[in-house]
Amino acid sequence: MQEFSFPFILFGGDYNPDQWDETVLEEDIQLFKQAHINTVVFPVFSWAKLEPSDGVYHFAWLDSILDRLANAHIKVILATSTVSQPAWMSQAYPDILPVDIEGRKRTHGMRAFFCINSVSYRKKAKALATQLAKRYANHPALFGWHIANEYGTYCYCDYCQEKFRLYLKKRYGTIEELNARWVTSFWGRTVYDFSEIMLPTALNDDYRFNPAVQLDYLRFMTASTIDCFENEAGILREMTPGLPLYTNISGFIKKLDQFALMPHMSFAAWDNYPNFSDGSHLVALKHSIMRGSLDGRPFIVAEQTPNQQNWQPYNKLKRPGEVRLLAYQGIAHGADGSLFFQMRQSLAGQEKFHGAVISHGGRSDTRIFQEFSVLGEELESLKDQIVGSRVVASVALIFDWENWWALELASGPSKDLRYLEQVAHYYKAFHALGISVDVIKTTSSLEGYSVVLAPLLYMMKDGIDEKLKEYVAHGGTLVGTYLTGVADENDRCVFGDRPGPLSDVFGIWVEETDALFPNEHNGIKEGEKIYKSSFLCDRIHLNEATAIATYTKDFYAGEPCITHNFYGEGEAWYFGTMPEDSYVLEFVTRLVKKTPSLVFCEVPSGVEMVKRVHAQRGETFLFLLNHNNQERTVTLPGAKDPIDVLTQKKVEDSQIVLPPRGVAILSYI
Ligand code: GLA
Ligand code: ZN
Repeated sequence: MQEFSFPFILFGGDYNPDQWDETVLEEDIQLFKQAHINTVVFPVFSWAKLEPSDGVYHFAWLDSILDRLANAHIKVILATSTVSQPAWMSQAYPDILPVDIEGRKRTHGMRAFFCINSVSYRKKAKALATQLAKRYANHPALFGWHIANEYGTYCYCDYCQEKFRLYLKKRYGTIEELNARWVTSFWGRTVYDFSEIMLPTALNDDYRFNPAVQLDYLRFMTASTIDCFENEAGILREMTPGLPLYTNISGFIKKLDQFALMPHMSFAAWDNYPNFSDGSHLVALKHSIMRGSLDGRPFIVAEQTPNQQNWQPYNKLKRPGEVRLLAYQGIAHGADGSLFFQMRQSLAGQEKFHGAVISHGGRSDTRIFQEFSVLGEELESLKDQIVGSRVVASVALIFDWENWWALELASGPSKDLRYLEQVAHYYKAFHALGISVDVIKTTSSLEGYSVVLAPLLYMMKDGIDEKLKEYVAHGGTLVGTYLTGVADENDRCVFGDRPGPLSDVFGIWVEETDALFPNEHNGIKEGEKIYKSSFLCDRIHLNEATAIATYTKDFYAGEPCITHNFYGEGEAWYFGTMPEDSYVLEFVTRLVKKTPSLVFCEVPSGVEMVKRVHAQRGETFLFLLNHNNQERTVTLPGAKDPIDVLTQKKVEDSQIVLPPRGVAILSYI
């Protein structure tokens, strides 16, 4: 697909004006201008208003809003509104309503309550998208398309069942092959015809799902979602060639393989709603995953909140400076759009307490409105300076949705296994040291990376084992962990030593894996120092590898827990247990000392550093983000004096002072 170039940083977000009358609308547009909003997204939930009865469309109200926004020079990302079908439609076409995992046919009511494969839904959604494109293709306000909203409803209806069987037939060809892949001989589940295959529901599996079947169901749901997206995207591409289109992905969901879905979009788009207690490294990791979904191309944050949410157990206000910091964090990690949910607070309903730029009071002298406007003004002043630049990283982290599914579908070794948390645990140390990490796919090239992290690479697929071997053999550095090289793409365990085909690279074999209780620890003894370990403990035998650290407790005390191996011209480290943060930080500090170019400069704790490079212009942007509530000073390498692009001042004496939650973007040419 043609690469989309952003003309400026998109700033604004969701707007649901069908909840109020035109006087409020006028007020809103004035306020949008005041806040330097350049883009609004709507109408996300207005299908019932746009199509009050079958095939009858009402667009006059939409015309008027679009015209007013065009006059105000504000761009519109037109939502196709297909996430909430009208009630009459659910009644007239009951195949639209989904069936849940317990076999219950749902009734009309909630948004995103439709069967992703429903023929009627697809027909009606396409018809609406066609009407919208016909009417607004040449409207001066139209910037692009927002398709549906946060896909992710699974369905277990009879039609999905039929489609699942067809999907499997296409994937495996014969029933014999399917039996072999699913190892149906386990628990006597052999099938002799595709018609015998059932969707994995609570009715037939009692929540003790066969992981192989579940894996294919999840793949099937992703494929169905892609088809559903393409049902609208196809016609929009045809009717409005060149206009970008996307769907926003609820941040951060396991349900859909985003590496499979995103390449269908003009740019990746995700909704960023961190919990109050989420570390900044977790948000950074999620941005990096989004960036990785389209191989480093700029993405957008399609939603974030300008103030508190309503759906957390305790909805803290965004602290002064926090919204700006969150927005710049996205931009630092490669976003060229910073959109928010939402522009004006909902009049009623489930989200009446959700924060908005304009709250119910309709005032511009609120803390949030003021902060938002300052941010808008800054972004406006950047014009096209930053858009199109890319994050440059020499460290890669392999991430994979199918690997995620398989790991968490497994019964054992520990119920506390959370792939994303585990990945974040290792990413965190690089983040703390200001070292950018590219999150890459199993199919991505490893060329040019000094270090490749492959935490919990349980599933061997896409020839990743061969690729990693070659990478290390040619001088690369690989870091792997427990739960590596266990199974193939169908979750069949690899017979032979663990970590499977990577045993040679790591120079070890793992005999068995102990699970620790939640507050139980073992010790990692390296030299004279002892660090805490938790979660899992592999019992490791050394082949060519050497032990870097050993366990301190239990019947395997003294056995290796962290190992190192030379393989070809490269080296491979293996973590047999999960070390506490300080160990990982010290490990990474030592690792990067061997490649000094990885570190641009030291950063104080809680200060995030990311580089974006504009290759054509030869300009590098160094983003410094102070997540602390106190001032911090960063000392820069002295060779060149950069310009602070937000203040347009030269940085003197290589020192930059960041206020609490402050941000600086330094330009090096
Ligand atoms: C999601 C939805 C929005 C809104 C926000 C609230 O991301 O896409 O419509 O409900 O959550 O946080
Ligand atoms: Zn269905």
